[in-house]
Amino acid sequence: MGIPDKKPAADRISRRDFLRSSAAAGLGVALSGPAFGQSPTAAAPAAAKSAAELRVAVIGCGAQGRVLIESMLRIPSVRIAALCDIWSYSRQYTGNYIKKYGQAANVYEDYRELLAAEKDLDAAVVATPDWVHAEQTAACLRRGLHVYCEKEMANSLDKARSMVLAARETGKLLQIGHQRRSNPRYIHAIERLIREKSLLGRVTVAYAQWNRAKADLLGWPEKYAIDQATLDKYGYSSMTEFRNWRLFKKFGGGPMVDLGSHQIDLFSWVHGTPPKSVVASGGLDYYENWEWYDNVMAIYEFETKQGTARAFYQVQTTTQHGGFYETFMGENGSLVLSEIPERGNWAMREPHAPEWDSLAKAGLLQSETVPIQKSATKNIYVDVRVTAEAGRWPLPVELAKPAHQPHLENFFDAVRTGAPLNCPAELAYESCVAVLKANEAVKARRVMEFRPEQFKA
Ligand SMILES: NC(=O)c1ccc[n+]([C@@H]2O[C@H](COP(=O)([O-])OP(=O)(O)OC[C@H]3O[C@@H](n4cnc5c(N)ncnc54)[C@H](O)[C@@H]3O)[C@@H](O)[C@H]2O)c1
Repeated sequence: MGIPDKKPAADRISRRDFLRSSAAAGLGVALSGPAFGQSPTAAAPAAAKSAAELRVAVIGCGAQGRVLIESMLRIPSVRIAALCDIWSYSRQYTGNYIKKYGQAANVYEDYRELLAAEKDLDAAVVATPDWVHAEQTAACLRRGLHVYCEKEMANSLDKARSMVLAARETGKLLQIGHQRRSNPRYIHAIERLIREKSLLGRVTVAYAQWNRAKADLLGWPEKYAIDQATLDKYGYSSMTEFRNWRLFKKFGGGPMVDLGSHQIDLFSWVHGTPPKSVVASGGLDYYENWEWYDNVMAIYEFETKQGTARAFYQVQTTTQHGGFYETFMGENGSLVLSEIPERGNWAMREPHAPEWDSLAKAGLLQSETVPIQKSATKNIYVDVRVTAEAGRWPLPVELAKPAHQPHLENFFDAVRTGAPLNCPAELAYESCVAVLKANEAVKARRVMEFRPEQFKA
């Protein structure tokens, strides 16, 4: 059985790219955008390391750990000093990989051994399965390290809350890996255009989806099978469970949490407030060997200053139709975003809306609209019920880096200079509540109302 390589080709870096980027000065400063609900952790004084090298441990060197490492290799003055993974395959692959870029790390199976042995670390990047984030993150914070921990924070709210408390108690930085929060295209669209310029007017509806084709369970090469005693030691009953942890209730939250966590977070960002309720329908409709729901449709309600707004989210795993993107719809227009810009990076103006030309002149939108193609079918006519479709106004901001790099840059910048984190633990906790409750709403088959205090850890 082969190990699928989930890395998109554009994310792989050549040694030449790496050397060139290392030589470039000032690469480490990411565009940062204010986040709602910023907290004491976000503003906590960071270690005064100025431009000195930061020594970082990576805990969890699977698919996402390696994606993060590829970005970290591009960030000057970040040294990967230690690696940890319970799987020999991940340890060997990653240890050898970073050597090609002139970095050599001490390699550990158990994060506790790593923390006991490594005395000179500044930060840790945690990219293990969701269920161990809380334990490992808290241990790193208590060892005096700043932590970048992948989303979803945890697979239970108790664990997620314990992470916020550990960050608060230690005064160390904790950034959670909702990388869209540092993506300059998302910051431009949400902070500048929707929130500051009110490009869409009152946002009444949002829609996001992540549709994926059906897939087999992940396998492993037989020679890298972990012995049962080691699996037991780390809490996995079989290699199938270990490789496919996100589908099982003990370890992850299924597609709703895995994929929805990124996109549902944006609904709250746009409205500047967490939701007031969620209702959802979902089920394990297709797969027989999963525990979590393979299809979920959820509707969130937000109470904004301008009135009620609704957001619909869909994740499904049997057909990839439409892929993944997010749409925000207001009285004056709509804005479509996707982490892959070809799928969403434009705004559409309603015919009656105030002109957007001045925004284009100011460089906030591209000045050339792209007309929607006219249908060649002659016998379809537009009547009074149909609104004429508007042209697309592309957004002028591009991200010429791997998607996770700005978020890591923001984290390392915060460690060095005390700059605010774009996704501190308190903010990610709000998002975690909204997402985990949707799975609960599916089970309960009823509307789940949120009280504002539920979003505070
Ligand atoms: N931000 C994003 O876009 C994004 C994308 C994918 C995954 N993720 C997140 O990254 C994390 C890892 O996901 P992945 O896709 O890399 O999973 P993965 O299964 O590919 O990798 C997990 C790695 O962690 C190791 N591991 C498991 N338990 C461990 C433990 N107790 N201690 C040390 N190592 C352990 C495994 O051996 C494996 O190498 C998850 O939290 C996931 O939600 C984020």
